[in-house]
Amino acid sequence: MRDNKNFKPFTYKVDIKNEEISNPDNHIIRKLSSMKGQYMDEKAYEEMIKKEDCILYEVYEKFAPEVEGELLQGMSIVHPGKVGNEYFMTKGHFHQILDTAEFYYCVKGHGYMMMENPEGDWAAEELLPNTVLYVPGRWAHRSINIKSDEDLVTIFAYPANAGHDYATIETKGFRKLVIEENGKPEIIDNPKWK
Ligand SMILES: [Fe+2]
Repeated sequence: MRDNKNFKPFTYKVDIKNEEISNPDNHIIRKLSSMKGQYMDEKAYEEMIKKEDCILYEVYEKFAPEVEGELLQGMSIVHPGKVGNEYFMTKGHFHQILDTAEFYYCVKGHGYMMMENPEGDWAAEELLPNTVLYVPGRWAHRSINIKSDEDLVTIFAYPANAGHDYATIETKGFRKLVIEENGKPEIIDNPKWK
């Protein structure tokens, strides 16, 4: 949709227990195969994918006209698991229009949002139920599930014209990774960061 002249108000229901929103416009499923080269332990990645191309995360989207001033919304679900000792996570992205922010509301699980900006700053904010996270414009963001037995579920909203830049992260990675060490999450430097 290129303009919002005939766009009408709407509501939808968030079902936290079943991890669904009502009448989603789109359902994205991201599998391990879409994350090639993103995990630190490449051997563990290859061994895992040989067994099964499992689902890492899912996104339900509610569409809005992709024009300035409108908001795209939805629910993000990161499943539990690890590749080697690195937790399941989303691809992570900058917005194509870099100066656009994003709102997240965590409804289930326990995790982190890893963030960094082109100026060289990074931040990792903890996500727990009822945590609201504000990702300012310019900050790339990736959600990471640190639980071994529960999904990380968040509701998000961001400017409908923002677009996604996945390529920068696919090429460079994030500066920092979250891995499990002695049963606890640890933030470490990404040895492959360029
Ligand atoms: Fe985003």
